[in-house]
Amino acid sequence: MDKNTTGILMQKRIIEFLKKRQEYVSGEEISKQLGISRQGLWKHIHELKSIGYDIIAVPHRGYRLLSCPDRLFPSEVSYQLKTKFLGKKIYYFDNLPSTMDIAFEVGIKGAPEGTLVLAEVQTKGRGRLGRNWFSPKYKGIYLSLLLRPKILTNQTPVFTLLSAVSVCEAVKEQIGLDIQIKWPNDLLIDNKKLGGILTELNAEMDEVHFLVIGIGLNVNNERKSLLEYATSLKEEKHEQINRIELLKEILRKIEENYLIFQKFGAYPILEKWRDYNITLGRRVKILSHKGGLEIEGEAVDIDIDGGILVRNDLGLIQKVTAGDVVHCR
Ligand code: BTN
Repeated sequence: MDKNTTGILMQKRIIEFLKKRQEYVSGEEISKQLGISRQGLWKHIHELKSIGYDIIAVPHRGYRLLSCPDRLFPSEVSYQLKTKFLGKKIYYFDNLPSTMDIAFEVGIKGAPEGTLVLAEVQTKGRGRLGRNWFSPKYKGIYLSLLLRPKILTNQTPVFTLLSAVSVCEAVKEQIGLDIQIKWPNDLLIDNKKLGGILTELNAEMDEVHFLVIGIGLNVNNERKSLLEYATSLKEEKHEQINRIELLKEILRKIEENYLIFQKFGAYPILEKWRDYNITLGRRVKILSHKGGLEIEGEAVDIDIDGGILVRNDLGLIQKVTAGDVVHCR
């Protein structure tokens, strides 16, 4: 292990130690418990303070952790993370073109299932159908998650639905807000866009090598920095949101739903999706991204592979697997 990694691991241990104690702890005790010199400890504390940890040092009492920075540091995300395999390996970047690219890069090199890529800002964040994903620094959650499910390529859209459901569940549980899903991947509050999911795959013929699920969520964005039809959790809840706790809950929910999918297949996931969706039962117009096809009718159901079933005015039911939905009424 190189010096840098050892240093990061020691800083993680110091923070965990101080978090558990929630009181002043003498430098002597920390040094003894963690097996470092007093001077080494002082250096690490100095570095931790420089990246935003508020640690006070009082003579004869010791060190006390007052607060942690609002950064998605791997040490913070993995602290008491209640998952078995999601987020056990984390790549964290302060600045990145897109988390999707890194997830693909490490996926091709054999990174394990559950590998998580996080960025505080993306300069080339991408959305569905070649759109940009606006990713301002320290405001949102921008993640890519690598999964290696044993599925056929045509089952991949279910993972978009599974992830959307997981975000809805996590936000409800952690923040108490209700999110709606517009097929296939839009996360909305009162018809304003809060986030989106982008699922990309590395596959050959029918065989999926791995999937990358990209999630972008507006968390602490202020009204003035949002587009008219967009919103953020902070705007809706009227308070600053703890991104780390929310991210941990999202990971927990994705893992839970993934295990349900592995055990019981897509049906229970689709059932949950139906509860959150606002597309079914409405008159919709679906524009295929190739520009040509336009289907209009009533969205009657979701298919087992995540496609949407639309009944046109002649009563014919057509399945659409990709495209943009406009809710007509
Ligand atoms: C959409 O609504 O079109 C999907 C948006 C997905 C954005 C996320 S942010 C993290 C990950 N990295 C990207 O470049 N895109 C996804």
